Amino acid sequence: MLVENLVQLKDLTFKSFISEEKINARVIELANQLNNDYVEKSPVFLPILNGSFMFAADLIKHVSVNCQVSFVKISSYAGTQSTGQLKTLIGHEESLFNQDVIVIEDIVDTGLTLELILSDLKARGAKSVETISLLRKQKARDKDVAVKYVGFELDEQFVVGYGLDYDGLGRNLSAIYEQSMH
Ligand code: IMP
Repeated sequence: MLVENLVQLKDLTFKSFISEEKINARVIELANQLNNDYVEKSPVFLPILNGSFMFAADLIKHVSVNCQVSFVKISSYAGTQSTGQLKTLIGHEESLFNQDVIVIEDIVDTGLTLELILSDLKARGAKSVETISLLRKQKARDKDVAVKYVGFELDEQFVVGYGLDYDGLGRNLSAIYEQSMH
């Protein structure tokens, strides 16, 4: 429910944070950067589902170099050992060998997800692997996770909208909202 710039999703309230206009302008800047950096290349975009679907669609509309797009998902399943979860990348059947790969993320928080993805891609023999993320939180900056292209830098706040969810809800919002403590 959206009332006067406040969004209620289950037990949490969110307030306006990054407007649709700001997002659209930044997306065009990022696409232009990619168009410069990948001129005469033909990259493969790997948007990570679910969160990056809206960002990826808008970004790729403004990419003018020849490119491929293959949406992928992280599957996590309980490992055989008690140490926790194993995660793998599923969905791209094409060979990434010798390709210039661009991972599209919605948000990098601790960077753990991205580190897993990058090591998986390197093992597949990609020629180059770079990451573009709409948002990056403080923890990822502290850890120096390699994200070449970042839309907006955040502190630690929890955000929803433009593909990002809270408990499955909020992905449809066309702007980004941050959790409101009031
Ligand atoms: P990381 O492995 O800690 O970098 O987590 C990245 C994933 O956590 C993202 O792809 C999101 O799915 C989720 N995530 C992290 N922060 C937020 C947030 O503020 N809102 C919604 N999802 C988030």
